[in-house]
Amino acid sequence: MPDRNSIIEKREAEKEKDKVVVLDFGGQYSHLIVRRCRELGVYTDLLPYEIPIEEFKRGIEAEEGTGKIKGIILSGSPFSIHELGSPSCSSEIIDLNIPILGICYGAQLIAYTKGGVVGEGMKSEFGRAELLFKDCALFDGLTERGSENGRINVWMSHGDVIEQFDGADILGHTMNTPVAAFRIANNYGVQFHPEVHHTDKGEKILWNFLYKICGCERNWAIESFITDKIEAIKRAVGAEGRVICGLSGGIDSSTTALLVNKAIGDRLTCIFVDNGLLREGEKETVINTFENNFNMKLVFVDAKERFLNGLRDVKDAEAKRMVIGEQFIKVFEEEANKLGNVDFLAQGTIYPDRIESAGASSQKSSRIKSHHNVGGLPEKLELKLVEPIADLYKDEVREVAKELGMPPQIVGQHPFPGPGLAARVIGAVTDDKLRICREASDIVEAELKNNGWYDKVWQAFAIVGDDVATGVLGDARSLGRIVTIRVVESKEAMTADFVKLPYEVLESMSKRITNEVKGVTWVTYAISSKPPATIEPC
Ligand code: XMP
Repeated sequence: MPDRNSIIEKREAEKEKDKVVVLDFGGQYSHLIVRRCRELGVYTDLLPYEIPIEEFKRGIEAEEGTGKIKGIILSGSPFSIHELGSPSCSSEIIDLNIPILGICYGAQLIAYTKGGVVGEGMKSEFGRAELLFKDCALFDGLTERGSENGRINVWMSHGDVIEQFDGADILGHTMNTPVAAFRIANNYGVQFHPEVHHTDKGEKILWNFLYKICGCERNWAIESFITDKIEAIKRAVGAEGRVICGLSGGIDSSTTALLVNKAIGDRLTCIFVDNGLLREGEKETVINTFENNFNMKLVFVDAKERFLNGLRDVKDAEAKRMVIGEQFIKVFEEEANKLGNVDFLAQGTIYPDRIESAGASSQKSSRIKSHHNVGGLPEKLELKLVEPIADLYKDEVREVAKELGMPPQIVGQHPFPGPGLAARVIGAVTDDKLRICREASDIVEAELKNNGWYDKVWQAFAIVGDDVATGVLGDARSLGRIVTIRVVESKEAMTADFVKLPYEVLESMSKRITNEVKGVTWVTYAISSKPPATIEPC
């Protein structure tokens, strides 16, 4: 599998946007910082803290409008600066002539590197604290008119404390933290988290950093993203280039297909593969939506048999993903050969896919799952990649889709994994387990819709494994499968929690599953969060 950098290099040649970079030290809010900056209109990337200094230098020396790095934000971290092996970036980065904002651990790292005293775990603060601050560029607009000082409530989550920082301008303190905000040269640090909603005016503080201190231009909005992207696809594919796109009917591949279709019209051919792992009614919906609503060239391939044959007796989750990936390659190869002269493959890879498949954004976390749409395919197919939404988070993809006129049932539908129902059948994928998983999932979704919960949750489905449990049917004892219902809430799928559904809704799901899905005796509810669990069981 190619590493993340080679994937980035292989993506379509387009002019990069100027950006702010968040260096990820493994903090729980790292993605949130990126999201907030993008919401404020500045393109922002999340990078691992170990990134080589040369990469930064290239970004800093770039011409305006070609991917210039305008500022760096150092994230929080679960580590203490004093811990052996705690994450640290090159001190050269901190000394670069570019504005830096350290948040929590990031602030402590700056202080520690520049001679400040970071006390260990003596005066931790968790939750709300009152920050007393002085007027400065970072807190601009936060004081009462004419006043040199102000107070706001901020959100804290730290064990270590910056106790003293000679040479720095101390911009704020709280009862437990003598240095809660500082500036030294063009480095700023805040012990609190401006990215969380619980910090009053946190958004304004980030706005000040982006626009007043870094001098960023507003360059990130969904409408301009669409226009820019369409132009970029045109440039990358050229006047003659032909593209195929694996369309699954999910929001990511659908949005990708629409963007490419807008750019190059019928030089795009979408390939929709029925791999036997689809949801109830999925095939009909996809064909109907794309052929009838969008008038796109769509090739339908019935490949159920070869996928299911390939999966027979394969029990291991990662091995199943590999089989599915390989089968997709074969089908695409065959279809590309039939079409002839195909140069590009469009994929619906999104930002979290890239990060999770690459082993997260830093070495402090490991690869979770091999999302099959990242890597593998293009190498073997010798096709160049077009990944127009690879910089977007899921809800940004939804905004793009809405803007492009995608029907609400596709925009609002829950994400569905590339390996389809195989991600929800534990152990070997058999016809019977697939049927149970498909029928039970359909009931779970229907009951959520009936009870007004569908749009409030991230994903909802049924899981089935090899375990059987005793039941009574009529007067007779019978053995049947155990179906587990999984309903989660999440923002970006990087973390998730189970949804506290009312018992009545769970009861109606359970009753319908045992009554309507043949061979099921027990229904359970998955109450694990991510981490430690993942959303899909396989
Ligand atoms: P996990 O199970 O890793 O899933 O917590 C996070 C999100 O990603 C989806 N998912 C996938 N999507 N190919 C995909 O396109 C995959 O191989 C894959 N595996 C998981 C999952 O449904 C959830 O939304």
